[in-house]
Amino acid sequence: MSKTPAAVDHRAIEQEIRRELAQVTDRTQAMTRAVEILKARVPDYTWVGIYELFGNELVLGPFIGKPSPHTHIPLGRGICGAAAAEKATIVVDDVNADPRYLACSLEALSEIVVPIMRGCDVLGEIDIDSDRLAAFGPDDRRLLEVVAAVLSEKM
Ligand code: SME
Repeated sequence: MSKTPAAVDHRAIEQEIRRELAQVTDRTQAMTRAVEILKARVPDYTWVGIYELFGNELVLGPFIGKPSPHTHIPLGRGICGAAAAEKATIVVDDVNADPRYLACSLEALSEIVVPIMRGCDVLGEIDIDSDRLAAFGPDDRRLLEVVAAVLSEKM
């Protein structure tokens, strides 16, 4: 029998992050709290991190999960670099079927990357891996796009 994923209340998580980040003015603290809450509330989120864009390079900031070999990613490389270059959310249901994928761990099976934008500029991105195939649905995308918008005000 396949395991049923635990129910996740995306709206409640959104409200919790809005509430928590309203108190925070420091950029690193804002990113760290967002990562902590997302990782704690959603069992499918195996690896949660935020990259910041400096020049043409994404640099890994706060994260929870196994250390990634990809702490610096040029624009256009990997799924992270593609999302930043395209300025659009990318959802990959099966990372092993996507030639762009830069492996972070052998267990990761699906990934979502959501750019953090200010106007037309990319400030960074939220990157989440799951050990489950196709773990990211419309509720995850919506939640993470809201979190990216909240974070953009702090960065
Ligand atoms: N998988 C990403 C690299 C970052 S690790 O997942 C943390 C990519 O393909 O860009």
